[in-house]
Amino acid sequence: MTLDLPVTEAPAKTLPDAQTVTEVKHWTDSLFSFRVTRPASLRFRSGEFVMIGLPGDNGKPILRAYSIASPNWDDELEFYSIKVPDGPLTSRLQHIKPGDQIILRPKPVGTLVLDALLPGKRLWFLATGTGIAPFASLMRDPETYERYEQVVMMHTCRTAEELVYGAELVDNLRHDPLLAEMYGEDFAKRLLYYPTTTREQSPFMGRITDNLTSGKVLTDLNLPPISPETDRAMICGSLAFNVDVKAVLEGFGLHEGANSDPREFVVEKAFVGEGV
Ligand code: FAD
Ligand code: A2P
Repeated sequence: MTLDLPVTEAPAKTLPDAQTVTEVKHWTDSLFSFRVTRPASLRFRSGEFVMIGLPGDNGKPILRAYSIASPNWDDELEFYSIKVPDGPLTSRLQHIKPGDQIILRPKPVGTLVLDALLPGKRLWFLATGTGIAPFASLMRDPETYERYEQVVMMHTCRTAEELVYGAELVDNLRHDPLLAEMYGEDFAKRLLYYPTTTREQSPFMGRITDNLTSGKVLTDLNLPPISPETDRAMICGSLAFNVDVKAVLEGFGLHEGANSDPREFVVEKAFVGEGV
């Protein structure tokens, strides 16, 4: 007699803290964005970052800090990533496809949060390259427009194609029927956008530091001078960029704040550079 034992399939092997990729979009040879499932327990403040990664060859995960680019109300999580050709993580991460799994440690942290700033009239988002990621989250969070009358997104890249992720995002927001319903037809005037390139011709050119100190951005957008009474800012770029923008804002009389000490501006690195 043979026993008909039920065939139990071995459960699919999952990574610890695994999330499933739902969408991948390649913007340039060196930039892509992707969406993953969101852990049910994950709560975060728009602008924060988490550690994400893939298992390494030795079984140890390769984890890196990533700003969450989606707003906190979204069912999924979005990330906007560089592709470093020989980077331990992104040389592999750039090949992910829908259905693949990544590791996501659900412990969000960071200084680019609305709570780290004093109330004000106008909020400046100052970013280079993938530094736009935390602002992609904050621009899509209605709380930002509850707290500030006007938001100015300055984004600078070397070339025009590197600006497209941010440009599409702003365009979609300006045509978002829900935001128009909440804030009226004038919503587009509340989200100002100033994309510039530095190494290729485009409608607006120049480094953020130069466009702030010369006042060109104020002239182009028809805005009053930056002052500690009305203006707040968040900075996200390379270390050199952050240091230089910080000096410019301090020149306008703004002071750096933190979660525990809200002031007029906050700073976070978009990546850790060589030797830093
Ligand atoms: P790494 O060994 O980490 O980096 C190799 C070199 O590539 C670095 O020394 C640096 O020169 C360069 N590099 C790394 N990241 C970038 C970048 N984003 N832009 C330009 N040059 C870079 N990266 C993102 O792509 N998107 C994010 O949202 C993001 N958020 C971050 C938030 C924080 C707080 C920090 C500290 C870093 C963040 N990074 C982000 C950088 C990220 O953690 C990794 O460095 C990046 O994914 C590359 O990983 P890697 O292992 O391939 O190469
Ligand atoms: P530039 O082309 O004049 O160097 P990178 O790819 O080197 O991180 O630079 C991304 C963008 O940030 C480029 O447009 C670059 O301008 C600009 N940038 C780099 N460093 C600074 C800085 N210290 N201050 C202002 N802008 C900077």
